[in-house]
Amino acid sequence: MPEPARAVVQTEFFTIVDDFLGSDERDRIWNYFQLQPFRRVDSLDLMGHWALEDSGVLRGPTAGWGRMFDSQYPTETPLDQVMKSLVDAGDLFAATVGRQGTDWDVFSAMATVYVAGQGLVWHRDAMDNAGSWVYYAHREWNIEWGGELLLAHDRDIPPEYGVYMHRLRPMVGFPDPPAWKSHLDNRDTSELLMARGIGSFVAAKPNRLVVIKGGTPHAIAKVRTSAGRHVRASIGGFFKRPVPQSQLSGTV
Ligand SMILES: [Fe+2]
Repeated sequence: MPEPARAVVQTEFFTIVDDFLGSDERDRIWNYFQLQPFRRVDSLDLMGHWALEDSGVLRGPTAGWGRMFDSQYPTETPLDQVMKSLVDAGDLFAATVGRQGTDWDVFSAMATVYVAGQGLVWHRDAMDNAGSWVYYAHREWNIEWGGELLLAHDRDIPPEYGVYMHRLRPMVGFPDPPAWKSHLDNRDTSELLMARGIGSFVAAKPNRLVVIKGGTPHAIAKVRTSAGRHVRASIGGFFKRPVPQSQLSGTV
């Protein structure tokens, strides 16, 4: 008998659920990866999330639960089973992102593919996210293949540093620049995270779900050359905080 989905680790930063999907569902998801119209992330104007050498990471269309993104649940694709299973497993990770209807209302789901040499720079997700999730859909992974999810044990970085925790340098006529995409410079991020410089890693174990608490800095270690043509195939997205009623109606 296969093991049921269960939370195997819970910290103040993340929850891990192993054996998330059944065998048939995993087969369908893997087929889904073969059929998606993936696009390079640099063609989706997502610079900043990925360093220049990682700009060929592939991303599929985004489905929404409770809201239209590229599509909306039910999508009549194998994504539906992942999204439904995520909602059904809500009790297992409520300590990390709270409850649907109270702490989050909708979430997104998208497929992403990393090949050898690719990773994701240190960042934290947008402030309107209660947290994020990722499910590892590849069939096989070796502990030496890299691609680990890295999580800093530091959630107290001021909001003005933004998602990438790096600010443009002040200049004449622009004395207080905003936080910005940092794919060419991560000076602030490095200083902020190196102050403590500790955290956790989570291996990209097949059929594993990881739920990350909003505000937790995280990164993806580059997939190593030893992975060969084995891809790091994941489905993930963001739990969006409920939009206040005043904003929905367009009044202040
Ligand atoms: Fe992220």
